[in-house]
Amino acid sequence: MDRASGRSPAGKSREQLVVTPITGHFGADVSGVRLDSPLAPATLTALRLALRHHRVLFFRRQALTHRQQTRFARHFGPLAPAHPWQNPVPGHPFVHGLVTGGGQPKNDEEHHRARWRSPDYLSGWHADVTAAVDPPSFGILRAEKVPSRGGDTTWADLVTAYEQLSGPLRRFLDELTAEHRYLVGYVPFGVTDSAARTATAAGLVAHHPVVRVLPESGMRALFVNPAFTSHINELSPPESRRILDLVFTHMTRPEFTVRHHWDTGDVAIWDNRATAHIAPEDHEHLGETRRMYRVFVAGSPALGPAGRTSTAVSGARYQAADQPPDG
Ligand SMILES: [Fe+2]
Repeated sequence: MDRASGRSPAGKSREQLVVTPITGHFGADVSGVRLDSPLAPATLTALRLALRHHRVLFFRRQALTHRQQTRFARHFGPLAPAHPWQNPVPGHPFVHGLVTGGGQPKNDEEHHRARWRSPDYLSGWHADVTAAVDPPSFGILRAEKVPSRGGDTTWADLVTAYEQLSGPLRRFLDELTAEHRYLVGYVPFGVTDSAARTATAAGLVAHHPVVRVLPESGMRALFVNPAFTSHINELSPPESRRILDLVFTHMTRPEFTVRHHWDTGDVAIWDNRATAHIAPEDHEHLGETRRMYRVFVAGSPALGPAGRTSTAVSGARYQAADQPPDG
């Protein structure tokens, strides 16, 4: 358990940050801090260190507004656009709404048929917007409305997954690059053909090192994911398929994951360069709305251990957007 005190300008103790690891490898609950107002410098420093160390942080029952979520995200860097091609929440250019469930409970047969448009159970795992040459560095997600059951999000720890590969395989992967594009392995539930065409038309395609070095710590993380990574550039197609399947199966092993059951008001922040995540698909049949809002901190092209950097094959950079004074 880590603790850090934040002090008010008058010197009076205002809050005490408590960081409690959740799993054996990554993920931590953070208490003793309110995210609805600017963070004290000592608190921000402690949060940045906690994020570097634990990779995913959970803050329970915060109940932020769009503006407060945007302001909290800015503590970690300039913000990226809310989404590569979808509109943001009106009046809040950095906030992307994710609404699922609701309406009539889904017919089970229809639901399962739609799910199987994706090729396999691994296909929903992804890091966000890795089809861009500069994917977001951090994501901040908050729950405004949650179903009475289900709706959990799960993250995978791509640092530990990398470290627990054998040395020869790590060194092999260190040298490689891979192509990332939309709709490679994942067609989310409810995505229409026209939405799929829009995603493809956005034309984001990038090459990234298969392993990326995190600039703050020098740690290495796997930087491929089933949803976006189409193939490893330096291998033949069958070699690429088998190596990627091996890596994807390895990195999503239960011991490398943390699963969050959302309560209304919860906030999560994750390092999008060092983790992957998967959205829940267990609540659509309940007919209950799940409403989440996400903000991205802008990222940079990745750097691999062998000195290879991300390159754009097509499409614009997903870089920091103009930063208005208010979110
Ligand atoms: Fe995502």
